[in-house]
Amino acid sequence: MVNRNFTPFPILTTERLTLRQLSIEDGQAIFALRSDAEINKYLGRQPSRTIEDAIHFINKINDSIRKNDSIYWAITLTSSEIFVGTICLFDFSNEKNSCEIGYELMTKFQGQGIMKEAAEVVIDYAFQALNVQKIVAFTHFENQNSTKLLAKLNFVKSKETDKENPDLIIFNLTP
Ligand SMILES: CC(C)(COP(=O)(O)OP(=O)(O)OC[C@H]1O[C@@H](n2cnc3c(N)ncnc32)[C@H](O)[C@@H]1OP(=O)(O)O)[C@@H](O)C(=O)NCCC(=O)NCCS
Repeated sequence: MVNRNFTPFPILTTERLTLRQLSIEDGQAIFALRSDAEINKYLGRQPSRTIEDAIHFINKINDSIRKNDSIYWAITLTSSEIFVGTICLFDFSNEKNSCEIGYELMTKFQGQGIMKEAAEVVIDYAFQALNVQKIVAFTHFENQNSTKLLAKLNFVKSKETDKENPDLIIFNLTP
């Protein structure tokens, strides 16, 4: 059984990073992330058009954390408190003891091993604190950076396919 309780919010730290909860003050940063064409390229989502869209998104996320439905961290550099990206666990299944992982980094902060460092601590949290038995990632077959990251994290490509979107490859990670 997945052991979900996100209050108090689980702040996670690594050598370079602090993963904390989003707040309304992150509106500008979330807007920058969610309106960036390069970052959105493989994500198939509606881009944020205004700061209000971004603030609405932050409120929605924090509501789902309050209800223990999903958990979403702002990734920040500990030394400067600069916001560099986000990472989340969502679509929890009690029957399968599983959840999905999602992540995105500002383009300026890609290529520095930041997401690998963030994902490692989040995966550890999912397996140790939440008792999740499987983490699933869906990634576009052309999204090389994401596929490389998943390989480094030891995710295994599944034979299953996403019937709604055949362009997505499914990867699984077990403890
Ligand atoms: C997917 C994504 C997060 C990957 O970011 P990333 O910075 O490439 O990932 P990593 O943290 O693993 O960093 C790896 C790179 O940092 C380099 N690196 C530099 N310093 C490093 C260090 N100290 N430790 C590890 N790697 C380091 C690695 O060599 C590697 O570079 P390479 O790609 O040229 O081989 C990023 O491309 C992204 O945000 N994409 C848009 C959103 C998206 O598609 N999300 C996925 C949805 S499924």
